[in-house]
Amino acid sequence: MEKILDGKALAQKLNNELKSEFNQLYIFSKIKPKLATILVGEDPASQVYINIKTKVCAEVGIESISIKHPANIDSEELIASIQELNRDDSIHGILLQIPLPNHLKPHISTFISQISPKKDVDGLHPINKGKLFDYNEEYAPCTPKGIIALLEHYNVNLKGKFTVIINRSNLVGKPLIFLLLKRNATVAVCHTSTINIEKLTKMADILIVAVGKPNFISKDKIKKGAILIDVGVSRVNGKLCGDVNFNDVFEKCGMITPNPGGIGPLTVSFLMKNTLIAYQNQIKSNLAKE
Ligand SMILES: NC(=O)c1ccc[n+]([C@@H]2O[C@H](COP(=O)([O-])OP(=O)(O)OC[C@H]3O[C@@H](n4cnc5c(N)ncnc54)[C@H](OP(=O)(O)O)[C@@H]3O)[C@@H](O)[C@H]2O)c1
Repeated sequence: MEKILDGKALAQKLNNELKSEFNQLYIFSKIKPKLATILVGEDPASQVYINIKTKVCAEVGIESISIKHPANIDSEELIASIQELNRDDSIHGILLQIPLPNHLKPHISTFISQISPKKDVDGLHPINKGKLFDYNEEYAPCTPKGIIALLEHYNVNLKGKFTVIINRSNLVGKPLIFLLLKRNATVAVCHTSTINIEKLTKMADILIVAVGKPNFISKDKIKKGAILIDVGVSRVNGKLCGDVNFNDVFEKCGMITPNPGGIGPLTVSFLMKNTLIAYQNQIKSNLAKE
């Protein structure tokens, strides 16, 4: 049994498959797939993420555009920019890069609900969240989809597994609950108010950690043989790292994602996959109109 869950290798395989699927649909439709990213302000980490997404878009055959707004843009202008992209038939996916500047943060749900659900490649529109509640994962968020794909690729049977998620965000923890329940895992969700978190992490067959704190998980906090999915991203002395102390837990755990090189590349692949779904759906609805 392989111990390292190699997200980077799986992402490369998926990207190759996606490239061929995009190409086939392009030959059929003569419509170029296009993803628009909205960036507000100058957040350096967001700029790095956008550059990575742009590179992978080019690899799989998606045209990508980045709409940049100044940090002082007001809510109405941002909504108008989203609506313009909704109306543009040449755009198949829309992504609002977070974090937003402080004055816009309280209105994030309003902005996301303005994105057409058909173009919502981040899977955060209320309609897509509601569908996930019903186990329809077509437009589920990219990181949770990547986590499930990695576990399934390595034949991890989720049925009955006690799975602990440390995160309850809309982007990671909440959607994961439904993807895991659909596959018959037993799910516990932890956060900053969880009392005695270690009691739960030590019971976990599968532990998914997305807190953004280096070395949050060490060997004394896990069960022997546990499967560890390290989602968090931090920087220590300029180097990227996750939430799990990899060297410390390695002997004791059953399987583990490297970080970097685990969930990050899969998140990008599933952004491409969600763009493919959005592109397919828009081609289908164009055909239905003809
Ligand atoms: N690799 C990837 O592709 C990828 C994708 C998405 C996110 N990430 C990374 O994953 C991390 C989380 O991202 P996010 O957007 O979900 O962030 P977030 O909204 O800040 O969520 C962090 C979660 O961790 C919980 N948490 C923080 N400190 C904790 C503690 N001491 N004990 C227990 N729970 C704690 C928070 O609890 P409360 O809810 O109580 O505050 C919250 O639910 C970040 O490091 C981010 O960079 C990576």
